[in-house]
Amino acid sequence: MKIIKICVGSSCHVNGSYKVVRAFNQIIKERELENDIELVGSFCMGKCTEGVAVECDDIIYGVSLENVEEVFEKIWEENN
Ligand code: FES
Repeated sequence: MKIIKICVGSSCHVNGSYKVVRAFNQIIKERELENDIELVGSFCMGKCTEGVAVECDDIIYGVSLENVEEVFEKIWEENN
């Protein structure tokens, strides 16, 4: 089980963390990975200027709706 942490701190909230959560959820559903990936909320990760901060396996990504799919691929490939 992979855990993807999505920042819901105030900057990331303004940058659209809930939209990013929805996008991740949709990708997980489409690929039927509900049992393999868990999304959790997180407080500020100190990366407020890089889009919505998303952390998995100690790597922090700056995510927007434009690159969410790409970041998901990276995260998923990381240990598969
Ligand atoms: S509010 Fe998300 S990294 Fe700071």
